Formats: sequence, structure tokens, C-alpha cells
Amino acid sequence: MTDSSIPKFHEKNREERIKIVESFAGLSKDDVKILKSNGGISFDEANHMVENVIGTLSFPLGIATNFKINGKDYLVPMVIEESSVVAAASKAAKLARKYGGFIMESDKSYSVGQVQVVDVDVKSAIPKVMKASDNILDLANSKSKTLSKMGKGAKEITCKELKTKSETMLIVEILIDVGDAMGANVTNTMCEGIAPLIEEITGGRALLRILSNYSTRRIVSGKAIFDKEEIGGEQVVDNILLAYEFAANDPYRAVTHNKGIMNGIIAVANSTGQDTRAIEAASHAYASKNGKYTSLTRWQKNKQGNLVGEIKIPMPVGIVGGIVNVHPMIKVCTKILGVKSAKELGCIIGAVGLAQNFSAIRALASEGIQKGHMKLHAKNIAISVGVPKSKMNEVVAKMIKEGNVSVTRANEILKEL
Ligand code: MEV
Repeated sequence: MTDSSIPKFHEKNREERIKIVESFAGLSKDDVKILKSNGGISFDEANHMVENVIGTLSFPLGIATNFKINGKDYLVPMVIEESSVVAAASKAAKLARKYGGFIMESDKSYSVGQVQVVDVDVKSAIPKVMKASDNILDLANSKSKTLSKMGKGAKEITCKELKTKSETMLIVEILIDVGDAMGANVTNTMCEGIAPLIEEITGGRALLRILSNYSTRRIVSGKAIFDKEEIGGEQVVDNILLAYEFAANDPYRAVTHNKGIMNGIIAVANSTGQDTRAIEAASHAYASKNGKYTSLTRWQKNKQGNLVGEIKIPMPVGIVGGIVNVHPMIKVCTKILGVKSAKELGCIIGAVGLAQNFSAIRALASEGIQKGHMKLHAKNIAISVGVPKSKMNEVVAKMIKEGNVSVTRANEILKEL
């Protein structure tokens, strides 16, 4: 199976859903066993990851259907606690298919490391560092044989003068092609590795030696077109554009608009074991890059009046190293995506962010967000109190009609029935 547009996936039971994913992604029997294991890691595994461990905590893993990205179909694993997100992504991806799905591209995976040099004469230090940049790069690359062997690794040294209240300091930046890794560790190792040489060259004192999470050299960008008729007509398109203008011009709205994008991005980042804080931090800084916090997406109409959405966002992700190689469920999720590179994963995550944003602003600019959201929420509540399939619609409809969607009410209705 290569088509990710699977009709009524949400109506299937767990067994059926897993069968579809198994056949789509060519999962092994062991992978399926892991999928059915509730996704856990053992206490011992957890205890090796962080400190003071007393247990583990699991989240729902859903599958977003319909995604076509750069001509390839994907079933996208999403780990998130919020209802509606997986459904919204799938719906947007379905609509985007009409004009070919999501067309995405990704920069190379360049990480930036920073060495802060203090107690230094910055003006005279900069040319010395630049003259020695080949030596500095060689030293940096000696710290990662793996990257060097692949023709990746440290590529460029730059310097900047930083005027502060305390003193004027020198910031030496090292640009590193980290390949398919997220690259935080190798970047930090290289920064620490080159610091003594930089001290020797500049006569200054290397203080901080750390990567920058402002990942402006690993940007993912892309777009999708949504047919005006399929999304409710010209008026809806125009309202979406007004909704976009609101986000583009008002930081209070932009933060919420971008939070909706993050619903998608972080859910896929979770399922594939990414450092979600790095993605969040970089994204919000990027949203403020022109001095005012604004939307990470852009929406406009094309000549035919169809809606065109674009996203541009830093994407520091990896498919090797860290938890990706350790956590059994994350390994299976990565296999479900079938990604061959960090760039490909970045494109998928960016596309899901754009899809999520489309669904949110389409709902907000038409019927409002609560209608669909409450329906799904009511269903989840009904399931949680054990409402059988035969009574599901009745219980959900009653809770929504009464405007009382709660565990208590679901229980009461169930008893009444
Ligand atoms: C809710 O998690 C996300 C939204 O608030 C996003 C938005 O307002 O665009 C619906």
C-alpha cells in the first residue's frame, strides 16, 4: 500500500488501524508488538535517560492520514494529548491533495556553535581568528571522525563583535554540517574542543562554548494550495486571509496562531524523539526575526482564487543519535514515516505544521473552533467512561446539545440510557 488517503481510518478499531499501518510501512511482527505494547520503555531504560526516575508516563499516539509531501505519501505518527489535532491535520492533508499536497524543501542541516571570548581586544583578535580558521576547522573536525568521513562536519568560522554593558566581547561561531543528526552533542564537543586554540590565538578567555538553538541555517519551507470550493467558497478564503492578517499584525494573535502550528510540529517531533524545546525556542525567535513577533505562515489567494499557504520555520531535527536509536516506539514511528534523512523528516514536520494552521484558521474563520473540537472531546469523554459503540452517537449528541461535556454527565446519560 502506498496511498495514505485511507477512507474512514478514524472509524476503524485499533487492530484494523494497526494492520493498515503495518502494511503501509512494511512493519515487522516485532514492530507491531511494540505498537501494541502501549509504547513504554522499561524503568531501567528510563532510569538511564534522566535522573531520579520513579516511573514513566505515556501519551496517545495517533496516525494522521492523507499526507502527500513532495509527491510521496506518508502516514504520520503524532503524539499529543489534545483532541482534534490529529483529525485536523488529516483533514487539511486530504484537502491539500487536490493540488498535489505539500511541496516542501529543507536547508542542509547546519548547526551553529558559539564560543564566547572575553577579556580580549576584539578588533585585533578577529583577523587572527579568521587567518587561523583552517586550523580551527581541522581541530573541530578531529572531534568527529564520523562526520568527517561523510564529508560533513565543521565548515566555516565567523566572528562577531558583541558590545555589552560589561565589555565588548568576541563571539566566534562555527558552522557545522551535522548531517542526519540533531547535532547538539557534536556541536558542543567541537566548541569545547576549539576553545583552547581560540584562547591561544586571541589572548582572550573562552567562557561559554555551546551550540546556538537559533537554527537559522536549517530552515524548512514549503507550501500547499487549498481549493476554494472545497473549503467553503470565496467568502471563507477571504475570511481566512483576514484571520491571517490578524496574526501577521498582532503578536497576541500571532502567538496563538503559531501555537496551533506547534500542535502539529511538536506532535510529530514527539513521535520521532526530537528535542521539542529546541524546535520551539528556534521557531519563536524566528517569528520575531524582524523585530516584532508575527505569524510563521503566510496565506494568500492565487489567480484562481484558491488559498495558498506557506510556512518557513527552523527545523533542528535528526534521525540518528539520542533517543531515536534507543526508544522502541520512536524507532517504530520513524519506520512508519519511512524517512531516509533528517531533511525529509524536517519537510514532513513543516508540512504538518502548515496543515494544522490551515485547519485552525479555516475553522476559526467559519464555524468557530469549538463545534468540531467539542464533538471530538465529547466522544473521547464518552469512550473514557465506557460508552458502548451502539450508544456513542446518542451520548455525544446529548452532551453537546446540553453544552455539558463532562465525565459526570457522560456517566449520567449512560445510566439513563
Ligand atoms: C488550539 O490548540 C490551537 C488554536 O488556538 C490555534 C489558533 O487559534 O490558530 C485553535
